[in-house]
Amino acid sequence: MTTKIVPLVSINNNAEKSVDVSQIQLGAFRWVWGDFSLKPEEAFDLFSKSRDIGITTLDTADVYGDYQCNKLVGSVIGQLSNERDQIQIVGKTGIRLISKHYPEIHVAHYNTESEYIYKNIRQQLIDVQTDYFDILNIHRPDYLLNPRDLVDTFEKLRTEGMVKNFGVSNFDVHQFDLLQSECLKRGFSLVTNQIEFSISHLNPVLDGSFSQAFKHSFRPQIWSPLGMLHKETLSEKEKRLKSKVEGVASQIGATADQVALSFILKHPVGGLPVLGSTKFERIKQGAESLQIVDKLTRQHWYDIYEASNGEKVP
Ligand SMILES: NC(=O)c1ccc[n+]([C@@H]2O[C@H](COP(=O)([O-])OP(=O)(O)OC[C@H]3O[C@@H](n4cnc5c(N)ncnc54)[C@H](OP(=O)(O)O)[C@@H]3O)[C@@H](O)[C@H]2O)c1
Repeated sequence: MTTKIVPLVSINNNAEKSVDVSQIQLGAFRWVWGDFSLKPEEAFDLFSKSRDIGITTLDTADVYGDYQCNKLVGSVIGQLSNERDQIQIVGKTGIRLISKHYPEIHVAHYNTESEYIYKNIRQQLIDVQTDYFDILNIHRPDYLLNPRDLVDTFEKLRTEGMVKNFGVSNFDVHQFDLLQSECLKRGFSLVTNQIEFSISHLNPVLDGSFSQAFKHSFRPQIWSPLGMLHKETLSEKEKRLKSKVEGVASQIGATADQVALSFILKHPVGGLPVLGSTKFERIKQGAESLQIVDKLTRQHWYDIYEASNGEKVP
């Protein structure tokens, strides 16, 4: 039997009911990518093996793979309908991209209007072959957002059983505060903000995002957790950062990827890395970061921070 190495944790302590997700999550963003696509059986194998080690939360979005990824996710979820309550699906909505599938779109934009979101979620649930999303994140802040109308839509989606919980993604602290204040008036809370954070993207520790997560008692989901480690071309600064991370890795007996993930996991805000690899061995190795995170000391963390930020802390 495979050992579970990833626990379930509560993403929020701020809502009427705690919502459990896996501490490390799987992202479907790269399952369909340009000319590349996992075959349905490969996607099933990747998620099944990930579940065996405790990764039960799958992150997706309608726009991934030029609107084709959700159907691949659906081919996986459709086979697991009897175990649906042991899986958490995080969906996203609100982005309208230029695509051959939507010839009427000639300017990429965001849309959080009720009629659009409602229709979009109905279609996404069909594509993903499920009756509900455990969490629905508004993918990016819509500059034309009307928070009252959006929260009305949340209530409608929840009442109809289509979405259990709501979050956001890429919201700055003011945008989060505004929508959260409207949710609180209706007696519920946003359960997460899915944001970018990594060895090469430090913004959340500097721009108030993590402070806000503490204040509102939620764990942020963390996208692109490996940062620039596998970029094909690196700037001089990125090369120095990579070599710093590799140095720490050899000191603590881990891989560079595990150090990058431990950099996230060490932060007490409890960020939830969403791993984007399409290869199970890499997902498993990433999950094993949970076993080595305690070896990353405060000084290691600040050493990497400094290499990334380019300046010593004052
Ligand atoms: N909310 C948002 O706006 C937003 C934005 C971006 C992403 N996301 C979410 O976050 C998830 C993760 O994002 P991400 O895919 O950027 O995360 P990531 O885990 O940082 O990067 C994954 C990429 O790194 C490659 N990689 C991993 N280990 C490697 C190695 N040892 N050698 C070479 N390449 C390696 C993977 O290739 P292989 O597949 O070949 O392993 C894959 O292309 C996405 O799936 C999505 O769910 C959300």
